[in-house]
Amino acid sequence: MAETSDIYEKVMEVARRRGFVWPSSEIYGSVAGFIDYGPLGAMLKRNVENLWRSFYVFQEGYYEIECPTVGNEAIFVASGHVKEFADKMVQCPHCGEYLRADHIAEENGIENAGTLSAEALQATLYELPCPSCKEPLGEAGVFAFNLMFETTIGPGSQRKGYLRPETAQGIFTDFPRLLRFYRDKLPFGAVQIGKSYRNEISPRQGMIRLREFSQAEAEIFVHPECKDHPAFDRYADYTVPLLTIARQLDGQEPAAMTMRAAVSEGVIANEYVAYYIALTHRILTAIGVDADKLRFRQHLTDERAHYAADCWDAEVYSGRFGWVEIVGIADRTNYDLRSHAAHSGTSMTVFMPYDEPKRVVKRRIVADMGVLGPQYRGKAKAIADALAASEPGEDGARVTVDGEEFFIPADLYAVREEEVEVRGEEVMPHVIEPSYGIDRMIYVALEHSYAEEEVEGEIRKVLRFPPAVAPIQAAVFPLMNRDGLDDIAQTITERLTQCRILAQYDDSGAIGRRYRRQDEVGTPFAVTVDYDTLEDNTVTVRDRDSMEQVRVPIERLPETLSALISGAVAFRNIRV
Ligand code: GLY
Repeated sequence: MAETSDIYEKVMEVARRRGFVWPSSEIYGSVAGFIDYGPLGAMLKRNVENLWRSFYVFQEGYYEIECPTVGNEAIFVASGHVKEFADKMVQCPHCGEYLRADHIAEENGIENAGTLSAEALQATLYELPCPSCKEPLGEAGVFAFNLMFETTIGPGSQRKGYLRPETAQGIFTDFPRLLRFYRDKLPFGAVQIGKSYRNEISPRQGMIRLREFSQAEAEIFVHPECKDHPAFDRYADYTVPLLTIARQLDGQEPAAMTMRAAVSEGVIANEYVAYYIALTHRILTAIGVDADKLRFRQHLTDERAHYAADCWDAEVYSGRFGWVEIVGIADRTNYDLRSHAAHSGTSMTVFMPYDEPKRVVKRRIVADMGVLGPQYRGKAKAIADALAASEPGEDGARVTVDGEEFFIPADLYAVREEEVEVRGEEVMPHVIEPSYGIDRMIYVALEHSYAEEEVEGEIRKVLRFPPAVAPIQAAVFPLMNRDGLDDIAQTITERLTQCRILAQYDDSGAIGRRYRRQDEVGTPFAVTVDYDTLEDNTVTVRDRDSMEQVRVPIERLPETLSALISGAVAFRNIRV
């Protein structure tokens, strides 16, 4: 890769100076793993989230819900996070620093250290230096550290709660209500965009590893036996680089495949996973990720989260961090619904009617209450119910009631076979989950958009954001701050803003400086009011990337800019 290793510093210098990303609570000394989005960063983030919504909510038709970020303990016991959601940690015996054991191993050339057991990691770390004090870690014990932030709900520590580690659980716990909302039909999906929290052990990767971060997650509930996506044709011919488990084990590069070929050749297990891989490629490139630095890597078997049967990560190459997971597309099977059903006692199934009712033979076991009643008295009814649900042997049935076992001889009940009409069956859906890390998306969009080039003997820094996500969409300049040019430029700014184009007026400094300022924050178009405007009511529109300019009548400006921002028209094709 051509990127220099200090690309992160360059990008973050612009990001800090121009109000995209700031250290959080800086005046008190910021804490690793927390950031603030400044005015332009917050706008960029909203635009990225809205672009995501335009696909998942508008195109796919999956409604958005919003659940609390604090959840009661029961949710996360059922989800498996209380037991399983832990990283392996070590404390340096010399300087006392807490460190993530697998990261130290990986930084020292051990591949896939995240898949090693605590014992294997311990052996690996023995000779390795502590990244902080450089002393050998020796026998510092590797132990599991749960990543959830724990809290109490209400006074007096009555109830334990956790800050949610993923938005997904809110969607699962709302499943019965969502099912009704979607009129009891599969497939359906729900999405959530919001904050999640993970108490990372030693986050040293800026925006890539945060303790409070934003996720955009979709949970798509599908029939367990039907994994054909109803709109698969939309992306069937879409080509994506795939790094399968087999290719990773053979040390091969990813292979580009269409989604149709990937499913038919069994490379991707089903159309749903393939569909969301293609859609993810579409979204990431739409926010400015370089398609040549984007691949989809299948999780190794021992790398998967506790709930996943299969998972593909969208990984983006960063000049500083190497290949970084940005999105995970997981087949969560019915893991979550099954577990929430068992823990809460609530049904998490869908009644699926058959096309035609079926006639099936059902076996009924009917107790002889005339004998059972006097013999077992108060327990007779419970024994008869247990009998009805039992699998009797030839001589009789063994049943348990209130922990007590009874043997009921075969002459105390009758087994009847009856033909009944069955209209459908209860099924527990499987879940396909595309899960996006919004902050990571923002970072890679910043890094891949960043460019430096020489213009008239000076270095121009530019963020080449696609117009759809740029925080400021149009800058408006009066050439001079007098002769009425400034009034016209102010009026144009107001008009554009009324048309929901985010426009910024700027009259300070030489025009060249103003262009550079806007280039540096990624404003795709700049409108300049000059002396010709006073004659013919036209202005220049300058394209950030080519730096070319065209003259546009003021009354055509809103529609022209809207077409450019939406991508309906390319700058070189403007006809005015
Ligand atoms: N919901 C998947 C994740 O948070 O990693």
